[in-house]
Amino acid sequence: MRTPIIAGNWKMNKTPREAVELSTQLKADLADVKGVEIVICPTFVCLPAVKEVINGSNIKLGAQNMHWEEKGAYTGEVSPSMLVDIGVEYVIIGHSERRQYFAETDETVNKKVLSALSYDLKPIICVGETLEQREQGLTEELVASQTKEALNGLVTDAVKKVVIAYEPIWAIGTGRTASAKDANDVISVIRKTIGSMYGQDIAEQVRIQYGGSVNGGNARELMAMPQIDGALVGGASLKSDEFYKIVNF
Ligand code: 13P
Repeated sequence: MRTPIIAGNWKMNKTPREAVELSTQLKADLADVKGVEIVICPTFVCLPAVKEVINGSNIKLGAQNMHWEEKGAYTGEVSPSMLVDIGVEYVIIGHSERRQYFAETDETVNKKVLSALSYDLKPIICVGETLEQREQGLTEELVASQTKEALNGLVTDAVKKVVIAYEPIWAIGTGRTASAKDANDVISVIRKTIGSMYGQDIAEQVRIQYGGSVNGGNARELMAMPQIDGALVGGASLKSDEFYKIVNF
């Protein structure tokens, strides 16, 4: 059985003060939730303060990105060892916004995934197609290739720690969700791809989330699908009551 994982990607929202407020509220609201892994991913500057708040709770800390090197002359970057030092457990890698605006490629995604795992950080790897690619019928081919590139060179034991987030780009922040069936179908393709690399037994252990306009109203239907193991939530993770509904799908 795969434990569902609901992660909030706060993106570039909330000052440290606001992040403390939101995480304090979440800690209280979500205290009784069981059977679901809960992760929140604030910006780098908010991580230490949020960690203080959620210490000892059922909420885990994630970052939104990292560099693959441990240290060095990379102005403006944050390394995996810095994240570990703060108590971060998860790190989102290859979000479509990073691919689109910050020149993230399948190659840098792979470097970051390998590096994260070597520091015992669990990567949440994002894959997903644009609307144009979907309309051209390229979705399955694209997500399979993004998955293969991201997992290239991983040892079998490490693959089990990885979380994949299928986030169709046209569904992000648009209020347009993939239908539960479509999302489930694409996620099956991702799982088959992992199976072709590491065997079906391993593929069955990897958690694959759906992301893209998930909210309190649609979470239940998405989560009811057999292949969908959780959600990566943007906008709706910034409101405690909405995130509560998603976590309690
Ligand atoms: P929204 O939930 O705001 O559509 O964002 C999804 C996302 O990009 C999460 O990483």
